[in-house]
Amino acid sequence: MRSANTVAAARSLLRRAGMPVVLVPTMGALHHGHAALIRHARKIATKNGTVVVSIFVNPLQFGPNEDLTAYPRPRNADRALCKSLGVDVLFQPTADDIIPPSASVFADEDGSLSATLCGKSRPGHFRGVCTIVAKLFNVIQPQVAVFGEKDWQQLAIIRRMTRDLDFPIEIVGHPIVRDEDGLAVSSRNGYLSSEERAVAPRFHASLVSAAKKAPSVAAIRKEAVRRLEKIPGTRIDYVEVMDESSLRPTRRAGTGTILAAAILLGQTRLIDNLRLTGEAK
Ligand code: PAJ
Repeated sequence: MRSANTVAAARSLLRRAGMPVVLVPTMGALHHGHAALIRHARKIATKNGTVVVSIFVNPLQFGPNEDLTAYPRPRNADRALCKSLGVDVLFQPTADDIIPPSASVFADEDGSLSATLCGKSRPGHFRGVCTIVAKLFNVIQPQVAVFGEKDWQQLAIIRRMTRDLDFPIEIVGHPIVRDEDGLAVSSRNGYLSSEERAVAPRFHASLVSAAKKAPSVAAIRKEAVRRLEKIPGTRIDYVEVMDESSLRPTRRAGTGTILAAAILLGQTRLIDNLRLTGEAK
């Protein structure tokens, strides 16, 4: 595995990279969700292609009261995991290198997809995500980039950016990776106290139960809220049934619709979603 800590070093390392180049952008603190994405990238790249993992805790996507400084940065463990998964290039730029202090041009989404759901309580977040992902696309120039479906809104926005700005890149979504008890794996799960961690699986379980009320969106939302409100220490941010690409609220739950929710469990913000089919399960 080779490492690059600057944009210039990454460009130079990748100049003669085997094709396809498959990028997995991350903020590090790698867990088995990230590992699944990296394994998938390795499969897409095949033996001759190049798997690039980027690790960058992107200050542009954190709000002033968010956890930028507290965000975990276990550099050695991340490196060892990437190596064990057959990553070819680990790109870990410094903030000053990849974001010039005088930067004044950013990639923004006009609000069609980014003003709702997580964007509502995290203003500027998706501008930060789009900007850094566009920069990573330009530096690495991959043929394929892999993103997780856990961050459904992020995936939809990146697909839209790729289309609208003509990046010649195939965006691949990877299903949500969960712990055995159903909790979607996240770098932020480490913030949960043991009491919070014990009740956290009820987040996913509530969505699964609510989905059984399909195709009535009103019934799904009502059931989800009723169950989520019973989880001790929980505040609901949103529960939405939406179209998977436009992210617009839908009237009927069915093929192509997603049930997505965000909650605060104590101080920790958790997100999750599932596909709806419209048939009772
Ligand atoms: P991060 O939270 O580190 O996530 C990196 C990638 O891993 C994202 O595509 C995310 O959706 C995926 N991922 C995280 N947990 C997952 C899980 N349990 N199952 C499936 N996929 C999972 O998302 C970001 O970083 C940043 O916003 C980034 C895209 C790197 C831009 O800074």
